[in-house]
Amino acid sequence: MKIISIVGARPQFIKLAPLSEKLASDHNEIIVHTGQHYDFAMSNQIFSDLGIRNPDFHLGVGSGSHAAQTGDMMKALEDVMVKENPGLVIVFGDTNTTLAGALAASKLNIPLVHVEAGLRSYNRAMPEEVNRVVTDHVSEYLFAPTETASRLLEGEGLKEKTYVTGDIMVDTIRKNLPVAIEKSTILSDLEIEKAGYNLLTLHRNYNVDNPEILVNILDQLDMLGELIIFPVHPRTKKNIENTEISWKNILLTEPLGYIDFIAAEYYSKRIITDSGGIQKEAFILGHPCITLRTETEWVETVEAGWNLLVAPSDNDICGKIRSFEVPAKRENIFGEDVSSKMAEIINTI
Ligand code: UD1
Ligand code: UDP
Repeated sequence: MKIISIVGARPQFIKLAPLSEKLASDHNEIIVHTGQHYDFAMSNQIFSDLGIRNPDFHLGVGSGSHAAQTGDMMKALEDVMVKENPGLVIVFGDTNTTLAGALAASKLNIPLVHVEAGLRSYNRAMPEEVNRVVTDHVSEYLFAPTETASRLLEGEGLKEKTYVTGDIMVDTIRKNLPVAIEKSTILSDLEIEKAGYNLLTLHRNYNVDNPEILVNILDQLDMLGELIIFPVHPRTKKNIENTEISWKNILLTEPLGYIDFIAAEYYSKRIITDSGGIQKEAFILGHPCITLRTETEWVETVEAGWNLLVAPSDNDICGKIRSFEVPAKRENIFGEDVSSKMAEIINTI
């Protein structure tokens, strides 16, 4: 079958890699990159780290307002879909790329798979929430990463279309962690010690676009008095530069490649983030995670005691981090060999 896989943002390349590898033997997969992320560190570096071949189409859409970016992507994606006439389109996650791909495919009546279906934060201030809800409701095949996601889809009348596959990012990290441990030089590059630092990422609009919140988070984290390695997302970089403040315990770096980043996760003492994917990776690796949000889609990690939600406006972020302790054990929430399960389902379409 001819399949179009649509990606555009960093976490989507990481979700694409293992599935693309599995589809290669039985299908003709066409990879389309919308160009939503375009900095070397956000795109090419990740493709190269994961050995993903160059996209067959690069739409070069770039940044813009939500409507402008999504609209430009839809037009360009429609052209590719009309030209290629695929039997199936696959979209990943919850970005504007996901929404554009889902709407373009569904209007052309092309069957659509949504990888990472059924996530909800119930916070409509997140653009991702709108993207997820719409994408789930126009898809024919909903690949739910967890039982919770499956239940939420059932609650929205989508049970018949739901397949609980597990989370695809498990496959990416399992395959690449041994490579990262063997090859990454990130500790020596940054002159840091194993377990001698916290790893931080921030990019949610409501955390980084409001200078007061962003400065509160970084001031509080600085007070922890421990080294914090902070690979800065481009959205966040602009906003930090505008504050003209610096923090003595926080070491800012460019975004890391995937191999270096998972090595940095693996050797960290704890992970502090507002990223969706990084909450999961922290759990998979068995590291305490502090999520600077008031809610999360990955509720199982919180219920299991491995992920602590702390509001970005909290005036005791530092104290909450210090007193957070994780339990001795954790269950497997996200599954195993997820890409094979997905490929098996796709083979029946
Ligand atoms: C997007 C997704 C978010 C996902 C995140 C992963 C949407 C609405 N948001 O957020 O769900 O968690 O990607 O990282 O789709 N920029 C650059 N270089 C780049 C990319 C972005 O400088 O390569 C800057 C631009 O100023 C841009 C801003 O970052 O305006 C935001 O980029 P955008 O892709 O719109 O949203 P993200 O915050 O990256
Ligand atoms: N990541 C990376 N380099 C970095 C930060 C993150 O390779 O400097 C990877 C990380 O391992 C995870 C993914 O990017 O797999 C998460 O993407 P992001 O936080 O941008 O988006 P989200 O998951 O929140 O949508």
